[in-house]
Amino acid sequence: MYSIQAFNAIADAGLKLIEEDLDFVLNSETQEPDGYIARSFNFHNYAIGEQVKGIARAGAGVNNIPVEHCTERGIVVFNTPGANANAVKELVLTCIMASSRNLFDAVKWTAEIEDRGKEIPELVEKGKKQFVGTEIKGKRLGVIGVGAIGVLVANDALELGMEVVAFDPFISVETAWRLSQNVRRAITLEEIFSTCDYITMHVPLNDKTKGLLNENAFKQMKDGIRILNFSRGELVDEQALKLAIEEGIVENYITDFPNENILGTNKVIGVPHLGASTKESEENCAVMAARQLKHYLKTGNIKHS
Ligand code: MLT
Repeated sequence: MYSIQAFNAIADAGLKLIEEDLDFVLNSETQEPDGYIARSFNFHNYAIGEQVKGIARAGAGVNNIPVEHCTERGIVVFNTPGANANAVKELVLTCIMASSRNLFDAVKWTAEIEDRGKEIPELVEKGKKQFVGTEIKGKRLGVIGVGAIGVLVANDALELGMEVVAFDPFISVETAWRLSQNVRRAITLEEIFSTCDYITMHVPLNDKTKGLLNENAFKQMKDGIRILNFSRGELVDEQALKLAIEEGIVENYITDFPNENILGTNKVIGVPHLGASTKESEENCAVMAARQLKHYLKTGNIKHS
């Protein structure tokens, strides 16, 4: 009988899938784990059990797992690309629209009105003037990285009336077929930087993408650009970002990875890593992760399902 240990925030559906199978025991106190399943648990400083053969991450990024160390030990690392893509796409589009309409500031401002009875009509008039927004129709969105999430963002932004230009030198044939023909393909990142009103990044964090938005990139951007980061915080050089905000280049930086270095200005909108946090997405990821791990422990074969 195999033993799987589950860490934090794994949706019940994924766990049931393991439990229902009588060949598996979940979170055993007496049996050494053969595999782990986790969402955000950090394995970098964790003593991975001697018997562990596979680690399944219920999510796309695997930067909470020491992949090289696992490879050396013959431990297979699984992830669930695509399982949370719709959830992330919906939040990205929500934030594009909400920031364009100054909704984050406006809602906060309204909530802070103190003397509600007397002053509301007058304040509403004031708010109406203060928070005039812009429409996204006809504006140019640059999508960096056209994988499972990027392709959905690009296609749906197009449906919302945006002009979309995508950059991805490693686009798969399958994704290329799914990408609308009306999405323009950029040959260089410079084209994205210098022509877009909005940029959203959907690339993994690695040596090539770390600091992708750096001083040089910000210098090329149009004043008033809005940037969305629902991939990983380290894609952006935060010192350069702060400078670009001060210089009026960046109107809004909306990030799923807020930290104390960049918070503190209303130009930075911090979201507490909610991109994949929908009931549907948590369930999809947990089920996919559990299926992959179970299949591997049972058969020794890797199946991406
Ligand atoms: C991902 O890598 O897919 C997300 O970070 C998942 C999550 O929010 O846990």
